[in-house]
Amino acid sequence: MDTALPWFKDAFPIYLAPMAGVTDKVFRQICKGYGADVLVTEFVSAEGVFRRNERTREYLDFDACERPIGVQLFGADGTHMAEAAKQVVDWVAPDFIDLNFGCPVNKVVAKNGGSALLKDCPTLTSVAKAVVDAVAPLPVTAKIRIGWDADSVNAVRVAEILERCGIAALAVHGRTRAQGYSGEADWRVIGDVAQAVTIPVIGNGDLFSPQEVMRRRAEPKIAGVMIGRAAMSAPWIFRQIKHYLATGELSPAPELSERWDAIIEHCRRHAENWGDEEQAIRAMRARLMAYSKNFPEAKALRKKFQHVATLADVERIAEEHLATAATMSDFVGQAFLPATA
Ligand SMILES: Cc1cc2nc3c(=O)[nH]c(=O)nc-3n(C[C@H](O)[C@H](O)[C@H](O)COP(=O)(O)O)c2cc1C
Repeated sequence: MDTALPWFKDAFPIYLAPMAGVTDKVFRQICKGYGADVLVTEFVSAEGVFRRNERTREYLDFDACERPIGVQLFGADGTHMAEAAKQVVDWVAPDFIDLNFGCPVNKVVAKNGGSALLKDCPTLTSVAKAVVDAVAPLPVTAKIRIGWDADSVNAVRVAEILERCGIAALAVHGRTRAQGYSGEADWRVIGDVAQAVTIPVIGNGDLFSPQEVMRRRAEPKIAGVMIGRAAMSAPWIFRQIKHYLATGELSPAPELSERWDAIIEHCRRHAENWGDEEQAIRAMRARLMAYSKNFPEAKALRKKFQHVATLADVERIAEEHLATAATMSDFVGQAFLPATA
């Protein structure tokens, strides 16, 4: 493997996947606390960087404890992307820039951004080259899907192009754009990409347990993995993965009380960061729904989460839930299951 990125040296890094609306600064730091090795911001529009709008500035915000961290940019114009990347480097000095060539969302694809560039290799090349040249020697990485649709799976070709453009590492989500999040990630194609290039390839898609990560680590040339949705409902999965990779032993998911402590801390830090508790906790509702995924009595919890508006609301729900769970005979066993999201 050919790499200038220090986090691949003698290591198998576990990335937190970029997730718009999820991997903000607070959540990234929580995942880092549980052992995520490399973080990436939510995707940021190159055009937003130009306009220097307030929201974009928030997306770019990170603390030193999050390093190594990359800022992910999307856009379809090489010159604009290069200029935006330079501005980002001047503003916040990330450890790398990551290019989004995988986003399936209509709003992005309609402007020829994200995964649309998988079927426009000349533009993909010009964007990648322009950004690599603009920010050199800062590394530029990329994240792709395996193709536009089942008839045009071209991840190997795209990877070879990106490697020639000077991309330093490549994350591959094993789905096509047409799949959205349905079906299964195709790890065979991810493996083909890893065999075809010398830069590190980070496998991504459907990793929900330490055992699955271990299995992927054993595959030839996969240099690291990226965890997305599993972390949304169980950020402690990074700790479990690290422990399993290091010892071969499965560690239990945290006790319910520890999980609630983590959730309340997330809410508290989110409110602090946002500055308006009510707005912040309302915005946390979707996140709380995700957290409840592997909880006992999840349906009842989700009903309650629909109405939370203050930190005290969340604390009260936690108290009630812990009291109910304590009376449930099957719960004690549940706490010791490894988390699967
Ligand atoms: C809510 C959500 C938001 C996402 N936002 C981004 C994004 O901003 N940039 C990106 O490259 N991928 C984004 N993704 C895709 C993830 O990074 C990842 O590739 C995908 O979820 C597959 O990994 P997983 O099976 O571990 O979840 C998003 C996924 C989700 C679920």
